[in-house]
Amino acid sequence: MNKFYITTPIYYPSAKLHIGHAYCTTVADAAARFHRLLGEDVFFLTGSDEHGQKIEDTAKAAGVTPKEYVDNIVAGFQKLWERLKISNDDFLRTTDERHHKVVQEVFRRIYDNGDIYKGEYKGLYCTPCESYWTEHQLKDGRCPDCGRPVKEVAEEAYFFKLSNYADRILEHIENHPEFIVPTSRRNEMVNFIKQGLEDLCISRTSFDWGIPVPIDEKHVIYVWFDALTNYITPIGFLDDAEKFKKFWPADIHLVGKEIVRFHSIIWPAILMALNLPLPKQIYGHGWLVVSGDKMSKSKGNVVDPMLLIDEFGADAIRYFLLREIQLGSDGNFSRDALISRINSDLANDLGNLLHRTLNMVGKFGDKKVYLPKITRDVDAALTEEAKATVEFYKNAMENMEISEAVKKVWGFVSRANKYIDETAPWALAKDETKKEELSATLYNLAASLRIIAILIEPYMPQTAENIWSQLALKENFKDVRLTGAQNFQGIEDAHEVGKAKQLFPRIEVK
Ligand code: MSP
Repeated sequence: MNKFYITTPIYYPSAKLHIGHAYCTTVADAAARFHRLLGEDVFFLTGSDEHGQKIEDTAKAAGVTPKEYVDNIVAGFQKLWERLKISNDDFLRTTDERHHKVVQEVFRRIYDNGDIYKGEYKGLYCTPCESYWTEHQLKDGRCPDCGRPVKEVAEEAYFFKLSNYADRILEHIENHPEFIVPTSRRNEMVNFIKQGLEDLCISRTSFDWGIPVPIDEKHVIYVWFDALTNYITPIGFLDDAEKFKKFWPADIHLVGKEIVRFHSIIWPAILMALNLPLPKQIYGHGWLVVSGDKMSKSKGNVVDPMLLIDEFGADAIRYFLLREIQLGSDGNFSRDALISRINSDLANDLGNLLHRTLNMVGKFGDKKVYLPKITRDVDAALTEEAKATVEFYKNAMENMEISEAVKKVWGFVSRANKYIDETAPWALAKDETKKEELSATLYNLAASLRIIAILIEPYMPQTAENIWSQLALKENFKDVRLTGAQNFQGIEDAHEVGKAKQLFPRIEVK
């Protein structure tokens, strides 16, 4: 059986998560669910990145211990993922004992191999980004990522010989065009490496909130060295060789564009030093802005996904994020755009298709759908479109072209709505000689909805199940695979459907 291992970044618990974080996790979730639909053995990991000076400072300011502080915020992360129907197989906290052991072991192995040495670090440090910068990397004397001031720091520290790996990493990137996606990010990385890589400072003595260096306990391990290692902890790096062999290397590390660099340079170098294979792909997604503006506390425009779920439900938010934003590009979130998608695509297109279909099966027949005895041109066209949709969807989803896949499925929803108008079942119902035609129309509509339910499971898991149960299909929805959608006539003869219930209420625009 094929396996699929996908990860999100582990989020900093320095504040509550916003809609941008929810976006990344939703994309990863859709991919994980799609691969489960393919019947693959999926491992989907997310988690929290809890060490570092910033967290230590924030906790102090809040008058609690760092652990108390992170426990509280991370509980909020987990609640959010649960409510957003995120199907992660594990949640890795860098404060977990299991992770602590892995990080120390990784340090020890690389130290024993001679790729970690002790030296002195003098540098320009950006505390919010947990990043050191060289003079020439600064933008107008400030942190090139966040634009905030940096401070000069000098301390005894351990270094990782990143410089040793520059050539091998470059060679890997050049020989594996799919390693860093999209191409724009790949080109950035190539240019970055070509400027030369400096050894990486991987320990600190200036704060305590971190994993101690195993050979020198007054040092704690630098947060990125700690954080990146999260990807091998839960799949058995230390404690389950069989599981590790199965799931490593990861298929996709999905990350935001600004942290592609850590994942495509530092992480590969650590893995090379450990003699482990590199992840197959680092996918750098774009940033979500709100009504055209970057989200920030000071602007007061940070969108809380929890409030959106309260108001519109998880599936509507998931649909919007997956449909509106092309993976790899920046995307815009706005309340108006969300409401307009809910009203047009969900309440109108999908909701009406289901509602009209089930109502007609009840009104014009005996609540049962029968395998068609005839095939008209419209029927053949609908079946063809269903087949083409499933094929397109499969390819697009395999290539992480998620919004393209969503659009294609909604193209099919529209096609099915058009089929109702074309076949005009209300007219067929009045004509005794058109019984077979009426029956074929009703069956084909129910069959289309069955396929739609399967295809949208990765995007809108609750809606998919809801449609399934309204169709009253006997097969357990959890057992359904994409192959089920490849068969158009997947509903048995004389199957009795359920009663129509509203999928999405229309949102009144004030
Ligand atoms: N802890 C590190 C990641 C370590 S992974 C080994 C980190 N955490 S973070 O909380 O600051 O960011 C996590 C992810 O959220 C990043 O991939 C970042 O790009 C993403 N996003 C933060 N704001 C975002 C938007 N506005 N839009 C989309 N994603 C954004 O970096």
